[in-house]
Amino acid sequence: QKNIGILTSGGDAQGMNPCVRAVVRMAIARNCRPFFIYEGYQGLVDGGSKIKEAKWSDVSGFLALGGTMIGTARCKAFRELEGRRTSVLNLIKNGIDALVVIGGDGSLTGADRLRAEWPEHVLALEREGLISKETADKYRALMIVGMVGSIDNDLASTDMTIGACSALERICESVDAILSTAMSHQRAFVVEVMGRHCGWLALNAAISTGADYLFIPEAPPSKDDWEASMCKTLKASRDAGKRTSLVIVAEGAIDRHLNPIKAEYIKDILCTRLGYDTRVTILGHVQRGGAPAHFDRFLGTMQGAEAIEAILRANSDTPSPVIGMLENKITTQPMKEAIELTGQVALAIEAKDFERAITLRSSAFSK
Ligand code: F6P
Repeated sequence: QKNIGILTSGGDAQGMNPCVRAVVRMAIARNCRPFFIYEGYQGLVDGGSKIKEAKWSDVSGFLALGGTMIGTARCKAFRELEGRRTSVLNLIKNGIDALVVIGGDGSLTGADRLRAEWPEHVLALEREGLISKETADKYRALMIVGMVGSIDNDLASTDMTIGACSALERICESVDAILSTAMSHQRAFVVEVMGRHCGWLALNAAISTGADYLFIPEAPPSKDDWEASMCKTLKASRDAGKRTSLVIVAEGAIDRHLNPIKAEYIKDILCTRLGYDTRVTILGHVQRGGAPAHFDRFLGTMQGAEAIEAILRANSDTPSPVIGMLENKITTQPMKEAIELTGQVALAIEAKDFERAITLRSSAFSK
């Protein structure tokens, strides 16, 4: 029987609650004891009432709830060695020998670091007299399983991250609403969507709402004078009878020199060069809010169940896995590799090797 801690970390994402529910219920069904760790890594650092055993009924109704009912945080203390050492002590005090982390890229990097440092923290705690030798021997390793909860869909190793589908639905609904008022006034709209350094939400939103122009970080405009080519495209579409113009810009969009391309700048170009009455809408956190779409409930549930199986299958040599979904199948891959591969996209962009950035993202972009 294992005692399994579960936490959600980083930006919340729709589908985290269904995932927590699946972890809790599958753990109980497989004769383990699940523990909520509240407020992400902050709960691990704080310990005490932030770590509490979870019962079957505690997760009733979680399938339909947005956000994360066990709280999340971007925790500074956990980034420090001292914070991670305190976390190890709190896990041991609660008898937790496996941890499930649902979060984005940064959260999983933190999880992987905790796993790698674990033996050294345990030895230090024993040296400091905070745990006995017997306890240190019992907790020689910590099994950590990651799942990617993030609206950005920016992690290698999975076709879809938990939350991306719901956020995209929300963006489409919002842009549809914008288009009805835009059409009435024959206006242009520049809509900024989230995604941090990833253009998946923007690209998919542009395709699904019929945008005239799109800016994403992985594929900056090919020419320096992109303003002229954008204006030409928008004008051609108006000349063909369209009453609106829609430009979607990812929040991380850049030009070929890595300078940010901002919605307000695009608006100024459309006003001055084309004379269009233009408005900017920054969708912001509305994209992350609200109930999860069907797919995120399903994905969170299937992955949550698999996380428990992965813990029960593991032995002391098993590297910490990340649960994902590739070609419609739930998968288990080494977390370290997934994080490294994801990091390569940022490196390719930094090196202005945009072709490579697109190739690395392509598995996520082709769905
Ligand atoms: O990673 C998810 C995300 O929503 C990004 O798309 C966005 O850049 C960021 O989080 C916003 O973070 P915060 O909620 O801390 O403002």
